[in-house]
Amino acid sequence: PKERGWRTQHLYLFQGFWCQPKEIQAIMSVQRNFIAQDSDVVLATIPKSGTTWLKAIAFTIMNRKNIPVQNDNHPLLTSNPHELVPFLEYKLYADNCIPDFSTIPCPRLLATHMPFSALPQSVKESGCRVVYLARNPFDTFVSIWHFMEKLRPESFGCLSFEEAFDMYCSGVVGFGPYWDHLLGYWNESLQRTQKVLFLKYEEMKEDTNSQLKKLAEFLGLPFSIEEEKGGVVDEISRLCSFQTLKDMEVNKNGKGAIFADSENKDLFRKGVVGDWINHMTPSMVDRLRNIMDKKLSGSNLSFQLL
Ligand code: A3P
Repeated sequence: PKERGWRTQHLYLFQGFWCQPKEIQAIMSVQRNFIAQDSDVVLATIPKSGTTWLKAIAFTIMNRKNIPVQNDNHPLLTSNPHELVPFLEYKLYADNCIPDFSTIPCPRLLATHMPFSALPQSVKESGCRVVYLARNPFDTFVSIWHFMEKLRPESFGCLSFEEAFDMYCSGVVGFGPYWDHLLGYWNESLQRTQKVLFLKYEEMKEDTNSQLKKLAEFLGLPFSIEEEKGGVVDEISRLCSFQTLKDMEVNKNGKGAIFADSENKDLFRKGVVGDWINHMTPSMVDRLRNIMDKKLSGSNLSFQLL
């Protein structure tokens, strides 16, 4: 495969997307071995587009009958969302693991960064549902830049913000090209509305409750009138909000929710729309805007940027 470096993180082009050698092994194992069930829900994102948030929300919605949102023992009070909703390619099938699915209650809630094209056949063909969360490419880039800096401080300096941006614009970023990832799920969500729900980070920020309702309906678990009147939707929004999650002890001082060497606090940076404006020069903005205009032309897909 072709190899390019994103700081010390060496990425290889595999099945049309960029990833690390360890991820390739795990993804091949997922593709070979994972058998989806009709009741499964798979959350899909490209890194740094709000995966942690989506995991918290989907977990809370799906478990709200057994675990009321205001329960003092709600799992989100003591566990990071990534511990509650495992990634297929990181937690479950990583390191040549044969996963133990008996510990995951049905309906199973799972996550992946894999592009739609790379999903196991059984995910595409079974009745299992896929929820995709998209975030505008400007904030996604800035977020990944900061995350990589935290994750691999020793490599800081080997690739500047400008160089990393250059690679991003040529498609080289984990699980990218970004636009291919986006369009794979977008096109599928248009063709199979019952199969793939396409959500946007910016819309979730603007009106969390309406997006929560949309998600609950898609999952076949709509909020009842009593729940709405009783404020359950507001409670879920609040429990899963950036500030609430960020302030929890497990997220302030915990470690290893995704990688053994990563700190949970690095998953919560600013959590806003439009921070890119503090990082990118006007020429960078023009360049990425032009690329996105071309790549998304005719798709009817667009993003709120500020
Ligand atoms: P920023 O770096 O822009 O702040 P992921 O979960 O896919 O790794 O994405 C991380 C991004 O989502 C970070 O963005 C992080 O701050 C933001 N985020 C995490 N939890 C969030 C929440 N509950 N609400 C909104 N944004 C959140």
